[in-house]
Amino acid sequence: MSRARPIVIAGNWKMNHGPKAARAFFEALAGEDILGVAEAAGNGRLRAILYVPAVSFAAASEAAAAFSKRAEIAVAIGSQNVHWKDSGAFTAELSAPLLMEIGITHTLVGHSERRQFFGETDASVRDRTAFALDQGMDVTLCVGETRAERESGRTEAVLLAQLAGALPQSDPNARERAAKALIEGRLRIAYEPVWAIGTGLTATPAQAQEAHALIRRDLAARLGAQAAQNAVILYGGSVTPANVAELLACPDVDGGLVGGASLKAPDYAALLRAGALAAR
Ligand code: 13P
Repeated sequence: MSRARPIVIAGNWKMNHGPKAARAFFEALAGEDILGVAEAAGNGRLRAILYVPAVSFAAASEAAAAFSKRAEIAVAIGSQNVHWKDSGAFTAELSAPLLMEIGITHTLVGHSERRQFFGETDASVRDRTAFALDQGMDVTLCVGETRAERESGRTEAVLLAQLAGALPQSDPNARERAAKALIEGRLRIAYEPVWAIGTGLTATPAQAQEAHALIRRDLAARLGAQAAQNAVILYGGSVTPANVAELLACPDVDGGLVGGASLKAPDYAALLRAGALAAR
């Protein structure tokens, strides 16, 4: 039985890889074995996205386009954040219209590092997500519990609260737009347990599956059965070529949001190969 949802292999470069390194990454990726990946990408079963630092938007987009032509695998280049207004006095922020003017149509919202270190709140995550979706962007919305929250048995409550905070609640039009975006695959959720990010600790497949199933149940209750069924839910937190296959084997894990391993072309190629296999 083939999977109902596409596999998405997304990389988050965080504050790494300037334009030079971005070009070198795609050069190296073109030399990797990506047999089988083009076919899965070509028939829409597999999608590749890299969220890069803003200084690398142009270089990465150009290099990704050249790579796509050669390898027949589209790699979307995305931003790591987006603002909730179209313009104004918001120093150092980037808006959806500014990003889209240079062809950046994909973005992360609510990454735990934004929440932990830069004061991102559920309310700002909700506003950023809603505005980006309204502008036609493709959004990966991140949620996840800390180690202390997991150890005190609050994982479920934290995930539900983050989803409640980030997704529209009362406005029926906004709910409909979010549901439509999930169905179209233009909004996806990334479950990233904070204790697994950059620590080498990975959630076990059972832990990942449990959290993903919870998220899907909540999406069903909040936005309807079809939105939940179509929702692509990524796992993030020390995903590597060594553990990706067992994570993708979980029925509710539809891909990965990968930090460290997405910086190295051989590892990213291995993740794409695993994604192509899982997408069959
Ligand atoms: P690592 O894969 O380095 O743990 O990072 C995960 C992450 O935060 C991706 O957004």
